[in-house]
Amino acid sequence: MAPRSSLTTRVAIVGGGPAGLLLSHLLHRSGIDNVVLELRDRDYTVQRVRAGVLEHDAVALLTEEGLGDRLRSEGLRHDGIYLQFAGERHHIDFAELVGRHVWIYGQQEVVKDLIAAHDANGTPARYEVTGVEVVGIDSDAPAVLFSQGGEEFELGCDFVVGADGFHGVSRLAIPKSDRTTYEREYDFGWLGILAHTPPSSDELVYALHERGFALLSMRSPTVSRLYLQVPPGENIADWPDDRIWDELDTRLALPGWTLERGEIFDKSVTPMRSFVSTPMRHGSLFLAGDAAHIVPPTGAKGLNSAIADVALLRRGLVDHYERQDDAVLDSYSETQLSRSWQTQYFSTWMTRMLHTFSGPDAVFDHQVQLGQLAQLVGSAHAKAHLAEFYTGLPITR
Ligand code: FAD
Ligand code: DHB
Repeated sequence: MAPRSSLTTRVAIVGGGPAGLLLSHLLHRSGIDNVVLELRDRDYTVQRVRAGVLEHDAVALLTEEGLGDRLRSEGLRHDGIYLQFAGERHHIDFAELVGRHVWIYGQQEVVKDLIAAHDANGTPARYEVTGVEVVGIDSDAPAVLFSQGGEEFELGCDFVVGADGFHGVSRLAIPKSDRTTYEREYDFGWLGILAHTPPSSDELVYALHERGFALLSMRSPTVSRLYLQVPPGENIADWPDDRIWDELDTRLALPGWTLERGEIFDKSVTPMRSFVSTPMRHGSLFLAGDAAHIVPPTGAKGLNSAIADVALLRRGLVDHYERQDDAVLDSYSETQLSRSWQTQYFSTWMTRMLHTFSGPDAVFDHQVQLGQLAQLVGSAHAKAHLAEFYTGLPITR
């Protein structure tokens, strides 16, 4: 077998999803050499349909870093959301409650903007790498081993960042005895669709219904994104388009309001889980985004948490190289785990409040949820609590 070709960089980033690509872009702008290694091909990473809501501070960061042009011209600024239950729709006005807002802009678009920036900077990720192995994180010579195009490489570096998502390999480089995982599975998932139809509401509608949760979201003035709570592992083949629209109609129904239908051009079922892996740093390996934590999607925190992780990591790496100051890197795991548990709290709270649960207490619990929601929409303090979390915890950068 031919020997491995040696490459070197300062920061080796495993995973070219939003976390990896954004960190790479931030480091490039700070003059820190880095390489992104991505398992999939470039088109695949752009075509994955995922999150759609960007928090206030995430948008400020992307804008500051030269990634805000299309976001601000094509994204949709939303000053609130609607909560729907017991046949009524209630507006939660973020702008009035906390003076902040969110933007609707698909994760696919964020990834496209990042790839365009990488191309413009001449720093494209290495796509279709296989056999990725993170080694030497307890030594002073960490490296990432990988193959690409039939050639074997060893990428020597100062730091490795594992931004390779929930199914990635980086996390597993931390010895099992030093790792603790916290996990919670839900007995339902989300069926999500994209449809060519103008959104039937000016802002997102989160609805609790006896038949299950429904969410009306959007991607643009002509594309709607909608979700239904379904049993986990539901077969998408059992959901022809008419059944999906009928179920959305039932769960989102409101007197005098119509849900506009259109051609469904993407549909999938996503399982729901909470997951946190600690610590987020071991030796010279740092974990970021879904590699370290997953939240249930109610509240749209997944992508935003990944952005928050890499913003702080950039700060820490800049301090390390420019000022020989490791305070931020040394506290990264503790800081982001605290943030992550706060986000888990919000996502769990939203999920429990808005989904239908099964079991012997289901009927009672549904009435408690109605009581909880009635209190929420009647209290400026409770609404401000939701607004503060939804528009996002501060992103330190
Ligand atoms: P990822 O986006 O998972 O990126 C990780 C990257 O690493 C991928 O490109 C992967 O191909 C690559 N990779 C994996 N293994 C390796 C390896 N061994 N070597 C090299 N590269 C590797 N969040 C919301 O807020 N709202 C939503 O509606 C929503 N919907 C979602 C739907 C789905 C199906 C999923 C999976 C997630 C969803 N999320 C949603 C969560 C959100 O999309 C994630 O939080 C976000 O993608 C995290 O970004 P990341 O870069 O950390 O991870
Ligand atoms: C979307 C996803 C979410 O998880 C959410 O809470 C709101 C919107 C979306 O994909 O549009």
